[in-house]
Amino acid sequence: MELREALRTTGAVREFTDAPIERATISAILDDARFAPSGGNRQSWHVIVVEDRERRRRVRDAYLDAWHDYVAHSLAGLVPFSPLADQRDRDLASAQRSAAEAASRPEGFAERLDEVPVMLVVTADLSVLAAVDRDLDRYTMAGGASVYPFVWQIVLAARDRGLGGVMTTMAIRNEPDVAFALGVPDGHAVAAVVALGHPMSRLTRLRRRAVSEFATIDSFDGAPLLAPTS
Ligand SMILES: Cc1cc2nc3c(=O)[nH]c(=O)nc-3n(C[C@H](O)[C@H](O)[C@H](O)COP(=O)(O)O)c2cc1C
Repeated sequence: MELREALRTTGAVREFTDAPIERATISAILDDARFAPSGGNRQSWHVIVVEDRERRRRVRDAYLDAWHDYVAHSLAGLVPFSPLADQRDRDLASAQRSAAEAASRPEGFAERLDEVPVMLVVTADLSVLAAVDRDLDRYTMAGGASVYPFVWQIVLAARDRGLGGVMTTMAIRNEPDVAFALGVPDGHAVAAVVALGHPMSRLTRLRRRAVSEFATIDSFDGAPLLAPTS
């Protein structure tokens, strides 16, 4: 697939056919994805291909519990899990938890996560991560930048093979449960749960902000960078 087309059309796929995917295909996908960049080229990632039914269910349970929290935040009119949320926001979200659970659909992605054709859990070795913002007086995010390009390359490499998928982070909210289920050692963080499979439906056009809405000249409030001409 041509690179620019892949960049512009690789969206989240959460519904898959039952067609199985061979370990060899997963290995080939990871063999492409491993060329992702990382801080200091330290490649902190580890990938667990979760095949065992019970372990999958435990990852699903960790995800689903967090998903209910996500829906609760949405019902409360909040941005789910914003690092800038205060106690009042947390209380508003908690008050919607029961309603969120009641809205659960048996056929939903979260509810059926354990049934996806491929479940990959990506972890990161914190001892080799370059979290350059760790001493700032704000929420840290630079460390993740050494892992998520790799995770995204997994989705792109799957796409190149006619597969679809989605990078998810919801289960991290219950990281201890996921770590216990999969034997993730101390000092390693759960970075993502990636679902892959043959897409159930065809791709739709992705909705994204225009360049002029997020790029400016010289300062954050500078003149917008104009839209590309071609
Ligand atoms: C860092 C990150 C975390 C995400 N976490 C989840 C998740 O936990 N569950 C999920 O269903 N999708 C997750 N997504 C997928 C986003 O929801 C998706 O990329 C976004 O809504 C755009 O969807 P589209 O590509 O279909 O337009 C995540 C994406 C990123 C980049």
